[in-house]
Amino acid sequence: MNVTGIEQGSYFLGRLSSVLGGRDLLPYLGELHASPLPRRFEEIVADEPAFETKRFTSIWQLRLYRVWVYCLVRALRPAVFVETGVLHGMTSAFVLEAMRVNGRGRLISIDLPSYAETGPANRDGYTGTLPPGREPGWLVPEELRGRWELHLGASLDLLPGILDGLDRLDVFLHDSDHTYETMRGEFELAWPKLAEGGALIADDSTDNTAFAELCERVGRTPLLFPNPNEQLHDEARCGLILK
Ligand SMILES: C[S@@+](CC[C@H](N)C(=O)[O-])C[C@H]1O[C@@H](n2cnc3c(N)ncnc32)[C@H](O)[C@@H]1O
Repeated sequence: MNVTGIEQGSYFLGRLSSVLGGRDLLPYLGELHASPLPRRFEEIVADEPAFETKRFTSIWQLRLYRVWVYCLVRALRPAVFVETGVLHGMTSAFVLEAMRVNGRGRLISIDLPSYAETGPANRDGYTGTLPPGREPGWLVPEELRGRWELHLGASLDLLPGILDGLDRLDVFLHDSDHTYETMRGEFELAWPKLAEGGALIADDSTDNTAFAELCERVGRTPLLFPNPNEQLHDEARCGLILK
């Protein structure tokens, strides 16, 4: 990542810090930099020809989205985190690593699998699939799975039962099917269950109007993060609101 990318990353982490009441996120960046996670990813993908990786020499080479999700989990210390859309499990692994350091938390993930053999489950034009023979979340290191529950199926089918069975919900992250119908349906189910001070995150928040409508309906101004890449972007992509 170039200098502008680092500046952009710092800027958005600064914005996240203000949203979280001025909490200092720098220690979390330091510990993530020293964390075993990138090396574990490299070991896990070493025998996967369909999956390319590289050596990570700096925290700024990790996807900004995952870095700030890690910081958010460290700062909020959620007891229960629900995510939709897992695929390889890269984001799930960052959440679980933050929970390991927190010493608390449970991640419940829902994924309608996009197997290489059957093709993408998404109806939004996203074409990513798992490598042949792999299951959703295959990248999640074994030692992080103790806090993880993975449910396979469509989010709108599974979420009502899963949310009903929870005492509380501290973070909800949408990254499954980015159609208006799925996004609106997930937000309508998750927002009422979310605890005061809890966070709702939407990846691809600007694909349609579902996230903007939620923000308007619940009276929240979202923190919008750019499309994470190696160049400077002015296009918003991930959205975050606190309840
Ligand atoms: C963009 S990928 C998720 C990437 C992951 N969140 C990450 O950052 O590492 C989208 C995932 O959602 C799954 N998916 C598609 N439609 C779904 C649905 N209706 N319910 C749940 N998962 C779905 C896809 O199979 C795919 O695994």
